[in-house]
Amino acid sequence: MPPMRSAFIALSRNRLLRGLAERSRLGVRLSSRFVAGMEIEDALRAAESVNKQGMHVTLDSLGESVSSGEEAEKAADVYHALLDAIAERKLDANISVKLTQMGLIVDPQLAEAIATNLAEHAKYVGNFVRIDMEDSALTDATLGIVRRVHARPELRGSIGIVIQAYLHRSQMDVDRLIADGLRVRLCKGAYNEPPEVAFAHKEDVDGNYVQLSKKLLSSSIYHGLATHDEKMITAATAFVKKRRISPSQFEFQMLYGVRRDLQRNLVAEGYNVRVYIPFGREWYPYFMRRLAERPANVLFLAKNLLRK
Ligand code: FDA
Repeated sequence: MPPMRSAFIALSRNRLLRGLAERSRLGVRLSSRFVAGMEIEDALRAAESVNKQGMHVTLDSLGESVSSGEEAEKAADVYHALLDAIAERKLDANISVKLTQMGLIVDPQLAEAIATNLAEHAKYVGNFVRIDMEDSALTDATLGIVRRVHARPELRGSIGIVIQAYLHRSQMDVDRLIADGLRVRLCKGAYNEPPEVAFAHKEDVDGNYVQLSKKLLSSSIYHGLATHDEKMITAATAFVKKRRISPSQFEFQMLYGVRRDLQRNLVAEGYNVRVYIPFGREWYPYFMRRLAERPANVLFLAKNLLRK
């Protein structure tokens, strides 16, 4: 992994910096490049605007690794409120949830109960819950919870998972998930992982991404390919054309504020695009991971700091 990327991922875990940044006005202003705003209302407004451009949405109430059950319940309340608001306003949006925010580290049973409740709520309002994937220490626990919720006949199809192409294990996980009929979002992976569990070189991650996306696209389950990498996107579109897989059978997913040109082009070509819209006061770790992905974003940050 390039040193710059590792450094930013390490900084994303720094509590002191996080506290300072999240409370500062300048920090909030800079974060607006990737974060829709601090309140639910900001996220709903952004979702409406993205919907008007012909794209689907997934909403992420920012926050990770709570330290008590109470905090987890409070974080879950925000998602329940989102599910109701999406239904009321007839938005084309689902929700993306991190299980550490739902208490996975402090109380895994609570996290599972919350995920189940959210899937029940989503089912009731005709919606869907995507469980984000975090670092590799949590992969088994996250997969376990999503599998068990999905295995309940009444909740089948109301919950989905994320698979990270940088992990060596992902080929095996994808085979199992396809056999289970679970909907997958495929991404490259955004955390610092050791070479024992993850490919260290971009070419290997990219190669695995292409292989996994072909597997998913051939499965006749509706999956999401989350990437801004034009090479990954071209490989997918070439594959579906060759195999005569309809564009309605899958979607591309991209982050709010990243490659808007590419998002619009794909919609114009007839592909489904879903935009991942994060919002909330706990924006720092998410923002730092976005800086880690692209050095040019750091220049953007520096320019803004100089302007102040
Ligand atoms: P890559 O990093 O190779 O970048 C390819 C090109 O895309 C760059 O050259 C640049 O042009 C553009 N680009 C990428 N990132 C950019 C940025 N931040 N700013 C500007 N341009 C950028 N990860 C995870 O571990 N668990 C998860 O649950 C999720 N969920 C998720 C949902 C969605 C909808 C997306 C799009 C991504 C995630 N990710 C994630 C993050 C993912 O793992 C990965 O870190 C980023 O998507 C960056 O990888 P790319 O595939 O875009 O390619």
